[in-house]
Amino acid sequence: MLYFVANFYLNVQLLKMMKFQGSHILSVSQFDRDAIAKILNVSAQMAPYASRQKRCHVLDGAILSNLFFEPSTRTRVSFGTAFNLLGGFVRETVGQENSSLSKGESLFDTAQVISGYSDVIAMRHPQMHSVEQFAQGSTVPVINGGDGANEHPTQALLDLFTIQSEMMHFNKGLDNLNIVLMGDLKHGRTVHSLSKLLSLYNNVKVTMVSPKELQMPDSVISTLTNAGHQVIVTDTMAGNLSCDVIYQTRIQQERFASKDEADLYRGHFSLNKSVYKQYCQENTVIMHPLPRDSRPEANELDIDLNDLDNLAIFRQAQNGVLVRMALFALTLGVEEQLTAYEKPVNWFTNKNR
Ligand code: NCD
Repeated sequence: MLYFVANFYLNVQLLKMMKFQGSHILSVSQFDRDAIAKILNVSAQMAPYASRQKRCHVLDGAILSNLFFEPSTRTRVSFGTAFNLLGGFVRETVGQENSSLSKGESLFDTAQVISGYSDVIAMRHPQMHSVEQFAQGSTVPVINGGDGANEHPTQALLDLFTIQSEMMHFNKGLDNLNIVLMGDLKHGRTVHSLSKLLSLYNNVKVTMVSPKELQMPDSVISTLTNAGHQVIVTDTMAGNLSCDVIYQTRIQQERFASKDEADLYRGHFSLNKSVYKQYCQENTVIMHPLPRDSRPEANELDIDLNDLDNLAIFRQAQNGVLVRMALFALTLGVEEQLTAYEKPVNWFTNKNR
């Protein structure tokens, strides 16, 4: 345990000194504003490769092991796509039932073995802090793709990248942001990580709209209030949605004791065009980590919002590729070599038009 704490502390200190190379990415608490600025800048440099204007196989020959022990579409596929875009190979293990974890193997042992086969590992697991535990056994950088209801650092970074690029259209930045977080704030790891990142900026106002039983954990609220930010906790949408960004979330059914219990909270905070027009500002940007639950009983983000320019959800998901490319480049120490490895794209593509 002492070893674990010491090692984690060392990692945090290393990242605080902006030494990304060889470091795990386990929690957003590792980053200060400079480190985040670095990640967001390198992410922006990845845009020409992701949009196929150029290619950059700077990680030619490297191997990513993508271990996903919980359902995932975007996070898993965008980690893989990001690595492929940089020229690396991806090996995937999906579902605990397909891994020796189901035979009783410890996370430590699995990490020792898989890190021997790989240059970097991305991992999602249902237990809180499991990815940290796994990282103790790994000889290569481990990136947390979501550990239970705890954290989802890469999602929070791509959310921040998205907020920054959306706010640019309104001559705003990450300071002085007025943001609403809505839905299952108790179990939603994306809003936990995002709130902690936002606490690093200046004069942020965060309104947290959720059923009383699904309120944001106190520890996350105090990260914001201790940094001097204004936090409003409410269970009412009316009068509380006037903001720069509204970030909707899904009821995290997999974290409840039963579906029946989750059903108690579904559909209470549906955001549709009529609610948006009534309570949001004219230019409020709509975000959601996705997947949105479009079943009629939930419908947390109605498809009638799809024609709004301010619906940023699909741009947000695309940004996941850029941010994950940046994290691979930084942890594997190739961020200064990108332009040296650029080549033209020689196949037909409509992505760069
Ligand atoms: C989120 C997650 O897995 O925490 N999805 C994602 O990674 N984009 C949110 C969710 O599943 O509701």
